[in-house]
Amino acid sequence: MKKIILMLRITALCSVVVLKTCGIALGQPRVGMMPKIIEKDGRHALIVDDHPFLILGGQAHNSSGWPGMLPQVWSAVKTMHANTLEVPIYWEQIEPQPGKFDFSLIDTLLKQGRENKVHLVLLWFATWKNGSSHYMPEWMKRDPVKYPVITGRNGEPVDSPSPHTQAGMEADAKAFTSVMEHLKNADPQHTVIMVQVENEPGAWGSVRDYSPTAQKLFEGQVPAELLKPSVLKALNKPLVEKGTWQEVFGEDADEYFHAWSVAHYIGYVAAAGKAVYPLPMYANAALRDPITNPKAGTYESGGPTDNVIPIWKTAAPALDLLAPDIYMAESEKVLKVIELYARPDNALFVPEIGSGEEYVRYFYSVLARGGIGFSPFGIDDNGQGSAESEIVTRLSPLAQEYALAGPMMRELAKWAFEGKIKAVVEREDHAEQTINLGSWQAIITFGTWGRRLEQTNTRPIGKAMVVQLGENEFVLIGSLCHFTFKPLGANAGKAWQYLKVEEGRYENGHFKLLRIRNGDETDWGGPRIGAVPTVLHTTLITR
Ligand code: DGJ
Repeated sequence: MKKIILMLRITALCSVVVLKTCGIALGQPRVGMMPKIIEKDGRHALIVDDHPFLILGGQAHNSSGWPGMLPQVWSAVKTMHANTLEVPIYWEQIEPQPGKFDFSLIDTLLKQGRENKVHLVLLWFATWKNGSSHYMPEWMKRDPVKYPVITGRNGEPVDSPSPHTQAGMEADAKAFTSVMEHLKNADPQHTVIMVQVENEPGAWGSVRDYSPTAQKLFEGQVPAELLKPSVLKALNKPLVEKGTWQEVFGEDADEYFHAWSVAHYIGYVAAAGKAVYPLPMYANAALRDPITNPKAGTYESGGPTDNVIPIWKTAAPALDLLAPDIYMAESEKVLKVIELYARPDNALFVPEIGSGEEYVRYFYSVLARGGIGFSPFGIDDNGQGSAESEIVTRLSPLAQEYALAGPMMRELAKWAFEGKIKAVVEREDHAEQTINLGSWQAIITFGTWGRRLEQTNTRPIGKAMVVQLGENEFVLIGSLCHFTFKPLGANAGKAWQYLKVEEGRYENGHFKLLRIRNGDETDWGGPRIGAVPTVLHTTLITR
């Protein structure tokens, strides 16, 4: 009998040990792996639950993170088939009095995110929100001496927080650390997978702070970290060992000084939060024109615009990535921005982009650059009271894309990480485009298709993605496009054909066949895809 009781005790003990090892402490939610960003050969993946994860996101409007507004946000998330909601959290609400914290809104978000089986990216609206400080708590707004705004060139106050206030930086870091501490305790299952620190930081209305404090720093020596040859080279500046901002950076001195100051402040806040709970963190940029190299002062100054990425990387190493908010209309500019932010030292993530149909195609461009996520801005109705049908129509192009991508999100994330995805998007001239794939070239035209009739799209919204699974084996995804191939390299000049073109969906890691496309659906060069995004799997052979 004693032996039996002893055995039962041992078995019970072992079960507890096994459960704990699996991360399932009794009576507690499942403890997930810590989300993180990894890099290999200059490409990146966001790891969630131990595997590459693709953010199929949407961002709520600025004032929609309140409990009374959330039902419409979740309704939009559901309509879109998004797997991640980006939602602001507000310093003024979280710390209504100095040192008194209220995490009730965060707890509501965590609870509702889990109920909706959706991850969260929290946006810390704090010292900076679009270059201003309107989300600072009232007790800070009422004390402009302790928490000053910047001073313009002519001595005028500018509606943008000063990055040269130790008190402001410490207050932000303290509040942010409390938020991260709370998440660490309240979110063992990692509903929150990433945090944006501030929002579009920098200044509108002045290139930098001209206050006496700032001026003194500006006339002093450039910090040694910025004088490293690798940083100066990346900024296209002559290598020097010392000098003032003006001496080292010439006509860019004012902007670089502000970028350094803002990045240093935000890097400090991020590092403090990370020290308690190391979720991936990023800062987002209000962009400058990526092609014309415009004059500082014509765009928000000091944020992580493409020209100052090396400064931000140096000043704020606690940030995992710098991310572009894309609202440009021209495809040339959008594609250039995507190229500029996909760097070996920077994972590409688009936390904001227009939510209109014309922007959906860039989801493919982001994947082709190895991106970890895509998240149009302003998905909810913002209290406008629109009819449900209007909302569904507005979100429909994105919803179709996410409905297709959702079940194959893990595959897409892995292929993007492995550099297997190539893509083209329809440009304003609707011209044919090509993708080189070693022994093959994919040729893509855009339009709508009758039996043999091709009609140019009225707006440039077509897109095509090719995933190279083997030398001759491809996954083709797209809409409003037509694929054909040309043998290249070792195959050049050979006759060829499709071995098979299968249409279907990826589900639970497997391709599930809907039909084999043949005859009209593949003849005349290759498969055509209409307005509904479609996945095809094909192998090509030469004869
Ligand atoms: C960019 C900002 O980051 C968002 O918070 C929002 O203000 C949008 N602009 C509005 O278009």
